[in-house]
Amino acid sequence: MMPKFLTILLMLSTPTFAFAEDALNDGRLLYAYNCASCHGANLEGQENWRTPNDDSILPAPPHDETGHTWHHDDDLLFSYTKLGGAELLKQRGMPGFASGMPGFKDILTDAEIVTVLEYIKSTWPKEIQEAQSERSRNKDQ
Ligand code: HEC
Repeated sequence: MMPKFLTILLMLSTPTFAFAEDALNDGRLLYAYNCASCHGANLEGQENWRTPNDDSILPAPPHDETGHTWHHDDDLLFSYTKLGGAELLKQRGMPGFASGMPGFKDILTDAEIVTVLEYIKSTWPKEIQEAQSERSRNKDQ
């Protein structure tokens, strides 16, 4: 028979681990359906993403570590995804910003937005993940 402490350890750890793995898979799928068309199947973004198009709209930036997604705290990433660029900047006192980033509030639940952002973060190298989470923590203080 299995020692008691091992059984308890297994009971405690398995569901959490399974959930974390499932959530990342969900995030990967949500990303593929909702974000990859602009931000790239491999989070590589669109070409010349720093240069606005003729209509002054920016191409989609990469979400990998070469972009600036990780320069933003969790709140901003969440609100940008939920509201879209134009609405978020309007709420922050900058109306009329020509944004190519649509809001997902009618398409994804808040939990799905968190899940897709967690997937994006999971692709970053460890030190970048730490820098971004540090930024989010400092903002809360
Ligand atoms: C129709 C194209 C399009 C789709 C689809 C799209 N985005 Fe974007 N996204 C953009 C563009 C363009 C920007 C650049 C900033 C702007 O124009 O507002 C951007 C910027 C962002 C930003 C803020 C800047 C940054 O560095 O990260 C986040 C966060 C973001 N997108 C997340 C997502 C997520 C998550 C999804 C899928 C749920 C998604 N986007 C789907 C076009 C898109």
